[in-house]
Amino acid sequence: MQKLRKEVEKFKKKILENKNLPQHIAIIMDGNGRWAKKRGLPRIAGHKAGVKTVKRIVKAAGELNIKFLTLFTFSTENWRRPKKEVSAIMGLLYKTTKKEIDELYQNNVRLITTGRIDGFSPRRKEILEKAMEKTKNNTGLTLNLALNYSGRVEILDAVRKIIKDLKKGKIDEEKIDSKLFSSYLYTKDLPDPDLLIRTSGELRLSNFLLWQTSYTELYITDVLWPDFSVSDFHQAILDYQKRERRFGGVG
Ligand code: IPE
Ligand code: IPE
Ligand code: MG
Repeated sequence: MQKLRKEVEKFKKKILENKNLPQHIAIIMDGNGRWAKKRGLPRIAGHKAGVKTVKRIVKAAGELNIKFLTLFTFSTENWRRPKKEVSAIMGLLYKTTKKEIDELYQNNVRLITTGRIDGFSPRRKEILEKAMEKTKNNTGLTLNLALNYSGRVEILDAVRKIIKDLKKGKIDEEKIDSKLFSSYLYTKDLPDPDLLIRTSGELRLSNFLLWQTSYTELYITDVLWPDFSVSDFHQAILDYQKRERRFGGVG
């Protein structure tokens, strides 16, 4: 335990010395189901264990002064899962939000969501809205939960809004560029992610932040989300800090 804590401190120091800290980290938290299956447990046990990982990674991100952490929490496609699993995930989400909001507030975390939270019941939406309202003036880590999120739907929603504004004469067709388009996305107030982590080894984006990840550095690990430790998180950041980001130019 002592040894582990020492290793964590060593990594932390190294990351902070490196200077090029990622401003925005996005994570596809995958593998809860496989974690449970390996143990002969129901899938929901994996989601419960995954919540513990969320808590430690949020804390670790705050300690490193990361500005934005986006967690893929529930995709629009995840409604396709068995009803029982969906409602268990939802239950966990609301219970955890209620339980953790005071501590998040104390830790200067600002909670926001990305996605169509209008798709949730009014009672549940209210829990999220209250939590966001309570933490809205916090200046530390912005914790962004992607909920009922689909990258393609987000792009289509932006196209619809742009067409409306074109018709009203609010914008000029010639002025539609990447910057303007980004300002119509759900993530308009966030910088694009610098680093995208996916746990559990799947080599795909699964409809996550399609527009925003055009030049994001990818880090995929076989570690299952419930097993993802602070050291694993630190390793991903250290790996990122060694990369050369060229954005199409020459190094
Ligand atoms: C990620 O774990 C959690 C959500 C998608 C809500 P999974 O439930 O997808 O776990 P696997 O991929 O089945 O192992
Ligand atoms: C992506 O994981 C969604 C979340 C992590 C919330 P999935 O488990 O749903 O992705 P696929 O189905 O393997 O692509
Ligand atoms: Mg999965």
